[in-house]
Amino acid sequence: MEMGDLQMSTTLDPVDRLLDSVMQGQSIVRNQDVLRFDYIPSMINHRDQEQKEVAQKLLPILRHTRPSNLLVYGKPGTGKTLIIRKVLLKIQERAAGDNTAIKIIYTNAKNETTLYGLLVSFGRQLGLDSKQIPTTGLSISEVFKRITSQISSNALNTVFVIDEIDHLAHLILKSHKDLLYQMTRANETLGPGSLTLVGISNDLAFKDALDPRVLSTLSEEEIVFTNYTTDQLRLILEERAREAFADPSNIEDSALNLCAAIAGSEHGDARRAIDTLRVATEIAERLGVTQVTQDHIREAVAKMDEGKEMAALRSYPLHEKLLVIAVMRATGATTGEIYLLYGDLCSKTGQKKLTQRRTTQMLGELEMSGLIGGRLTHQGMHGRTKKFKLLVSPNRVCETFAEDLMLADLV
Ligand SMILES: Nc1ncnc2c1ncn2[C@@H]1O[C@H](COP(=O)(O)OP(=O)(O)OP(=O)(O)O)[C@@H](O)[C@H]1O
Ligand SMILES: [Mg+2]
Repeated sequence: MEMGDLQMSTTLDPVDRLLDSVMQGQSIVRNQDVLRFDYIPSMINHRDQEQKEVAQKLLPILRHTRPSNLLVYGKPGTGKTLIIRKVLLKIQERAAGDNTAIKIIYTNAKNETTLYGLLVSFGRQLGLDSKQIPTTGLSISEVFKRITSQISSNALNTVFVIDEIDHLAHLILKSHKDLLYQMTRANETLGPGSLTLVGISNDLAFKDALDPRVLSTLSEEEIVFTNYTTDQLRLILEERAREAFADPSNIEDSALNLCAAIAGSEHGDARRAIDTLRVATEIAERLGVTQVTQDHIREAVAKMDEGKEMAALRSYPLHEKLLVIAVMRATGATTGEIYLLYGDLCSKTGQKKLTQRRTTQMLGELEMSGLIGGRLTHQGMHGRTKKFKLLVSPNRVCETFAEDLMLADLV
């Protein structure tokens, strides 16, 4: 190969172009971690009041009295996890110099599939090993007893933070255990030591699912995080960009504005804003350019929406997927027509078809999720019927279902 060929290929090949720009130090991101969701930024804006409130409510622990239970809620991406984690870190730093035992433990209920797993996580953080709490085999109430006796025998002042506590409510409803009640009332039976519960949730409806006795003790204190405005998001993004990028010129001002405006027009979700910025930056880097522009932000938003749709499509069980294919093939078809098509698809894939009653129910669920749309129409002597159409792009459906061996031949 001659030198000329090599140069040709370096200018054309996108991988080489990207590698070249990185090797020449042209990467626009100085610190990739800054754009990750779990990064704790050095500057937290707009949340002074909330930080103070959280700190104030938990302060008694430093004086060795029991703080009240606390419920923190607000829409997704409003800084709840960030603020609580930061305040807890600060308290822990202070407590470290103290020789009386203060323990703050944090668990995200979303990461646990069982109640048992959640309790094991608590136990481990309190220093109970796999002999004291084995990973399986004990009853829930026995595990909880061991946790509380660890607290009282060491006279520990504890704060249990349960993030996304709405998921815990689901785990509990599933297994009918009255764990939250026991937790909120644990102090009444503890000898020395104390247990304070801090619950964080972005789903207010979960309160309705709780036993009123639990709710009243859990929410002895409440803090609400309000949605961020576009201006507030703009400042959060600006700070992140300042920490993340090699140079301020690596992002257009108008791109930051657009990114803030898009997230602000939904419900003021800072996570969404930061995610969009990260994806847009990846797009710019892949193109080998040194500035993130409005176009990259728009492309990032489209890509993220697409990702959400594909994830939703993927998550459905087989028969729902067959129904989506039926709707896609016969846009505007009635429930009955779709059922016939669905039956066809079942025999093609060797599936036993479900009853029409069941599939009608499933169509309703798909409609709720926004993947398909239904419209009631009058059909002469047949009375009323519903007609369905696909609300996402057929290409997306085909692309997603093609990954599924069972469906690949149908799309
Ligand atoms: N005031 C702020 N300053 C800087 N960054 C922020 C601020 N508020 C939120 N963020 C960032 O936005 C993202 C989302 O925040 P966080 O995870 O705290 O939201 P949340 O309220 O816990 O949301 P969810 O209910 O979905 O768990 C994080 O990356 C966080 O660092
Ligand atoms: Mg959170």
